[in-house]
Amino acid sequence: MDCFLINGGTRLKGSIAVNGSKNAALPIMAASILTEGENVLKGVPNLADVNHLTVILQRLGVAVTRDDNGDLRLRVEDEMNCHAEYELVRKMRASICVMGPLLAKRRKAQVSLPGGCNIGDRPVGLHLAGLKALGADIELSSGDIHLKAKKLRGSEIFLGGPFGSTVLGTANVMMAASLAEGTTVIEAAACEPEVIDLANYLNACGAHISGHGTPRVTIEGVKELRGCDYTVIPDRIEAGTFIMAGAITNGDVKIQNCRLDHLLAVVDRLRAIGVNVEKNADGVEVSSARRLEPVTVTTQPYPGFPTDLQAQIMTLLSLADGNSIITEKIFPDRFVHVAELSRMGAMLRKEGPTVIVAGVKHLIGAPVMASDLRASAALVLAGLVAKGQTKISRVYHIDRGYEQIEQRLCAIGADIKRLPE
Ligand code: EPU
Repeated sequence: MDCFLINGGTRLKGSIAVNGSKNAALPIMAASILTEGENVLKGVPNLADVNHLTVILQRLGVAVTRDDNGDLRLRVEDEMNCHAEYELVRKMRASICVMGPLLAKRRKAQVSLPGGCNIGDRPVGLHLAGLKALGADIELSSGDIHLKAKKLRGSEIFLGGPFGSTVLGTANVMMAASLAEGTTVIEAAACEPEVIDLANYLNACGAHISGHGTPRVTIEGVKELRGCDYTVIPDRIEAGTFIMAGAITNGDVKIQNCRLDHLLAVVDRLRAIGVNVEKNADGVEVSSARRLEPVTVTTQPYPGFPTDLQAQIMTLLSLADGNSIITEKIFPDRFVHVAELSRMGAMLRKEGPTVIVAGVKHLIGAPVMASDLRASAALVLAGLVAKGQTKISRVYHIDRGYEQIEQRLCAIGADIKRLPE
């Protein structure tokens, strides 16, 4: 296992490019199960989660290779195996998105229930209700979900839950409905850019999906989907993390390949804090005032403030001049970073799904532990600005979602070393 040693206090300056989106790439890779012929995906980041899904797809008969230029090629070669096993699925919850494609294309799927997760409860009831409405028979046995259907038929499906819609649930139903007979209407569909990207990919393969990006998505089933060439959208969460890295170090950073239109809620909060985020020809420029204003942040489904940037903005607000309030409305227990940031001198008080952040003058370097992907990113931001040295253990969590983050941040002035622990 590797750790990061970060010497804090350097100012970030220069250009950093955002990679393709992990959370768009994963369902699109899974959707290749639905297709005939070859898919060439551009912009798929080289991450632990992508490599993990690659292994799952290979076991399911999909040939997956990476070209020298980074393109990912996927082609279904064998449709015999329909079982995504616990040993593989438990390592990454997004594996659940092979369920819809397997059911639609192979008429049966056996996918292990992913199990516990550091960011809180991760039920899949809405995924299953959606697939059931399309005609799947569903049974749970020995921790595996077994699904089968002679034929899937279009239906009207409501995907709203107590915390809003479901991103991967919408993806699963959209993928399955693409090959169902007739029309499916998803009400309360997730509107996230990653869902739009999946729909755009499926349409490029021959699907008939409309309304994606709104809460009502209509899918006219087709008989066949053909593989295509497709470029994945930039990762809005990586972009948001880099914007905050620029802001927290009082830096002057240009972020390339950044879709500001995917980050409007984030930019709104950052501007209220006093961070300058301006669009330029190929992305955005970030600089910040010395004094950071305290603000209120509430995570919400898109286009609201994303839960995947909640931990990172907590680090930034730890240094604001006053009290901020952060409320988590997607994963109310997603606060494992609170204890670690507190070890670095942040003044945080958790009250249920809310954290009151009392701004301090400085964070102080300390040994801390990465516990999930976005919490680890928050610790990297804290390490960049803390006085002295921060040691972050278990950085395999950050490798799941950020490709070589230490090298890319070092290229614009950070002092981060990766060492074996
Ligand atoms: N939910 C239900 N029932 C369900 C499914 C979800 O009640 O059947 C609830 C969840 O418990 C949660 C809310 O609905 O309270 C939203 O969960 P959602 O299903 O949308 O999450 P997900 O699709 O499993 C994706 C991202 C997460 C991101 C969430 C929310 C991928 C691979 N994962 O997860 O990303 O936090 O949407 O935006 O796309 C990350 O990248 O670090 C990450 C965790």
